[in-house]
Amino acid sequence: MAAGWNKLDGAKALVDSGIDGVPDFYVKPLDQRLSPQDLELHAGEQEDEVPVIDVSPLLDSKPTSSDRSKEDVIAELLDASERWGFFQVINHGIGSDLTRRMLAVAHEFFQLPLAEKMVFYSTDIDAAVRYGTSFNPLKDVFLDWQDNLLHRFLPERRDQPHPWPTKPSAYELIAGEFVDQAKFLARHLLRALSEGLGLGPDYLEGEFGEHNVALRLNYYPPCPSPELAIGLSSHSDVGGLTILLQDSDIVGLQVKVQEKWKTVRSVPGALVINIGDQLQIYSNGKLKSVEHRAIVNADKARVSVGLFYDPASDVRVSPIPKFVDTEHPAAYNPCVFREYLKNLYSKNLVGKELLESQRK
Ligand code: OGA
Ligand code: NI
Repeated sequence: MAAGWNKLDGAKALVDSGIDGVPDFYVKPLDQRLSPQDLELHAGEQEDEVPVIDVSPLLDSKPTSSDRSKEDVIAELLDASERWGFFQVINHGIGSDLTRRMLAVAHEFFQLPLAEKMVFYSTDIDAAVRYGTSFNPLKDVFLDWQDNLLHRFLPERRDQPHPWPTKPSAYELIAGEFVDQAKFLARHLLRALSEGLGLGPDYLEGEFGEHNVALRLNYYPPCPSPELAIGLSSHSDVGGLTILLQDSDIVGLQVKVQEKWKTVRSVPGALVINIGDQLQIYSNGKLKSVEHRAIVNADKARVSVGLFYDPASDVRVSPIPKFVDTEHPAAYNPCVFREYLKNLYSKNLVGKELLESQRK
């Protein structure tokens, strides 16, 4: 390890400094490490896997090539959200040119010199742009093998220009367009879930209020001993709905299904969607916010880009009355979303502990 490197410099700077092994504070405890199956990294042979759903009937007003109706698609989305908490979508309306450019510009951002990225370093969880490493490097006992860039678009800042990085020069244009299109998709998916839950299409959006949106770029550099480190520790997403664009051809995302880790297959052009903690709370446990993590590999850097579509900060989230009766009492205490987020950063990110702490 080169002299002068410190933990806040992150995983890429560590690799760039020339290392031949994984330093102790990146070595995860045994129970968090990869199993031999994980290391094979081939998701193709799995018997059952995260469903892949063609969502074009949700988005098009004109008849589509699909012979499924909008209602069929809604039923599939609901089934996947109840059983897996995860699904992939194809024909989702975000063009392959844009997704390709988004991934490319994300790679380019992380190639910038460390000092240019560190300009965005901040410990303020409400910062509009925040660069960092791991999840909470000042608290994490074992660091995650990744660096990240987080954008937060809060409704109260809607009238101010977002302070986009000016390098790479195309970043603002591409990431801005990706955010707009992913938000449009997230709204349609939320409407579909709302309808599928029998609430009417506008209900969940109404609950989310002015909604918060965040964009997170994750960068996982190659790791000399991928069996010792984890790219992103097991967690569930705290908010509403997540849309994840992952590098094509490099798998890394794993979902916990019946206590086993399943690798999410790379499907060309697909986006991964998952249910966050707030939708599990609203639906009183019907929709599942499922644990997931990212693993790393020895050969190639991987990026992923997540769009988080969440309730507004001041919204008080609690189980919707429709899902509460004597047989199904409210399983969660109400919580203002801002407080939930604060707890995420003050406690450590371990599996579903945060959501469980909300349980009555
Ligand atoms: C996340 C996440 C997974 C990945 O950013 O919340 O789960 O594959 N990312 O990067
Ligand atoms: Ni996640």
